[in-house]
Amino acid sequence: MAVLGLGLMGRALAEAFLRAGHPTTVWNRTAAKAEPLAARGATLAATPAEAVAAAPLVVVCVADHASVRAILEPAGGVLGGRTVANLTSGSSGEARRTAAAVSRHGADYLGGAIMAIPETVGTADALLVYSGPRAAFDRHEPVLRSLGAGTSHLGDDHGLASLNEMAVLSVMWNVLNGFLHGAALLGAAGVDAAAFAPLAKTGIETVAGWVPGYARQIDDGAYPVLDAAVDTQLAAMRQVLDESAALGVSTALPAFVKDLAERAVAAGHGGDGYAALVEQFRKPSEGRP
Ligand SMILES: NC(=O)c1ccc[n+]([C@@H]2O[C@H](COP(=O)([O-])OP(=O)(O)OC[C@H]3O[C@@H](n4cnc5c(N)ncnc54)[C@H](OP(=O)(O)O)[C@@H]3O)[C@@H](O)[C@H]2O)c1
Repeated sequence: MAVLGLGLMGRALAEAFLRAGHPTTVWNRTAAKAEPLAARGATLAATPAEAVAAAPLVVVCVADHASVRAILEPAGGVLGGRTVANLTSGSSGEARRTAAAVSRHGADYLGGAIMAIPETVGTADALLVYSGPRAAFDRHEPVLRSLGAGTSHLGDDHGLASLNEMAVLSVMWNVLNGFLHGAALLGAAGVDAAAFAPLAKTGIETVAGWVPGYARQIDDGAYPVLDAAVDTQLAAMRQVLDESAALGVSTALPAFVKDLAERAVAAGHGGDGYAALVEQFRKPSEGRP
């Protein structure tokens, strides 16, 4: 295989291929970053086209999709018949644009997303998802699996893997923001974040356990109460907001949470379960495209 882009993640991908015994050709804009991989058995390519020409599967992992297209365009003459698996983060629209650019040269395109950090790449803990032509995924799955045991194909839409990455990032940042706001609240009272961590972890794990049930409700469009009604939770949300203001901590996050629930109550969901708030998230924000 070929790996284009040897930043923190690209290096981890190339190393995982090498550990699994796959002949690997690598290229990076800053050539010096490729040299340590040569010592581990990688072949160094002087240009992206040279790397692409060396392998049926081309894995790309750089900063953004515009860079992917800029790297691959001059290699167009040798792309035909190969598969590009692009593990660069980006929106689903960007992924479809890159897919179109690659497909013009007669290559298959798999959009990919890495739900892992570099140090877990190539292990049982790494989750990587792909979307695009099923036949291309099936052809390369055994090799792609050496990047992580949790390797799966989500569907034919080139943008689907990227869309899943955006959704997972949204989950992660919102969970972390809740933890950070809680740590700021307790910190204002002199309590260390380390002392808060076990309780926060329990809260996160409890909510994680609710996800499958809430998902079924979202798909069904009906939100019977599983734990507490939105009305009940709204009262507690106002308390978190008041506590934040009283302690001089940012009220931005609790105000957003309270406003969201108030809109759900105004729409008639006060007696429903929390998953009813999904209907507020489905609406475009005012002033935004
Ligand atoms: N790190 C993670 O934990 C992680 C997890 C999941 C997904 N990802 C995704 O993986 C991708 C790479 O992340 P990273 O952590 O490896 O970033 P990084 O360490 O900053 O590396 C960025 C890479 O992109 C290359 N690059 C940037 N602009 C370029 C251009 N115009 N032309 C050619 N090459 C260019 C850099 O080349 P130079 O060396 O020449 O600068 C470098 O190889 C990102 O899309 C990121 O969101 C990363």
